Amino acid sequence: MKSILVVHYSQSGQLSGIVDAMTRPLSEAGIRVHVETLQPQQAFPFPWPFFRFLDVFPESVRLDPRPNLPLSPAADADFDLVILAWQVWYLSPSQPVTAFLQGADGKRLLAGKPVVSVVACRNMWMTAYDKLVDLVRDAGGRLTDHVAFTDNAHPLATFITTPRWMFTGRRDRFLGLPAAGVTADETAAAARFGHALAAALARDEQDSGAPMLTGLRAVRVNPRLVISERAGQRAFRVWSGFVRLFGKPGQWRRVPALALFAVYLVALIITVVPLSLVLQRTFAPLLRRRLDALRLRYEQPSGSGAARMTEHDRTP
Ligand SMILES: Cc1cc2nc3c(=O)[nH]c(=O)nc-3n(C[C@H](O)[C@H](O)[C@H](O)COP(=O)(O)O)c2cc1C
Repeated sequence: MKSILVVHYSQSGQLSGIVDAMTRPLSEAGIRVHVETLQPQQAFPFPWPFFRFLDVFPESVRLDPRPNLPLSPAADADFDLVILAWQVWYLSPSQPVTAFLQGADGKRLLAGKPVVSVVACRNMWMTAYDKLVDLVRDAGGRLTDHVAFTDNAHPLATFITTPRWMFTGRRDRFLGLPAAGVTADETAAAARFGHALAAALARDEQDSGAPMLTGLRAVRVNPRLVISERAGQRAFRVWSGFVRLFGKPGQWRRVPALALFAVYLVALIITVVPLSLVLQRTFAPLLRRRLDALRLRYEQPSGSGAARMTEHDRTP
């Protein structure tokens, strides 16, 4: 009997919904699925009070997370495959996921194992994925596939709907803007990855090193966002260092520096991000080769092709 370990963390339940849809076909195929939910030693709030939301910024960016509680003893079994479901915090893997990958549990469970990465976030996952690739490699895992679920609304709309969701817990339609997050249809359609993994495990493909989820539109990369993200990463490094000069997480001494960062973040979102997108559109012919190379890079390993969609997409 094949067995899969699913490691995940989700505040709103968005990622749990995707994991449920994805793992149901695996259980139905007779595969043992063990789900571990990461638990930070001190829980992160949801919805987020404003300054607590800002306060996790420096340590998220610097991959210096709050530790987790140990996993349950049931996670000690030997698994054929690990599904790691994660979200992005400040262009980085969320702190509970980083803590798992850096800690003893992650190193023990991932060593030598094939790992399928599943991210669900607003839409900026690409440079966080670079960090995740390094963390999985350092933990000894072999990343075979990567699947990304994003909010497909217009990026400018999500700059309003995502913060509203994070600060109030409400993700419904609002002022004519679409609901925040991954849609119910996209969530249900995650089942196609479970069907494909079940078929691949039946053929013992998990150890081949080749991706198992190609042809299922696993990712869609907007290379223009990668350019904005890379600029963001550089600025976030400087800002995170600056805020950390004022104190440790939770200390009031950090509040003024975090307030400055918040002003910077809002200014960035309403000026630099749209401006960079307009400039990139204007100079698109000159940038085409660079953008194509970026798209190709972040589409690895599972790709954006849809050739096997009818084979595995059995959602109504
Ligand atoms: C502190 C924080 C920072 C976030 N930063 C990003 C980000 O940089 N890029 C992005 O696409 N989404 C970002 N998000 C959205 C999350 O990736 C995710 O979609 C959302 O928190 C819902 O995930 P859940 O399954 O944990 O509820 C952020 C969320 C939080 C709480």
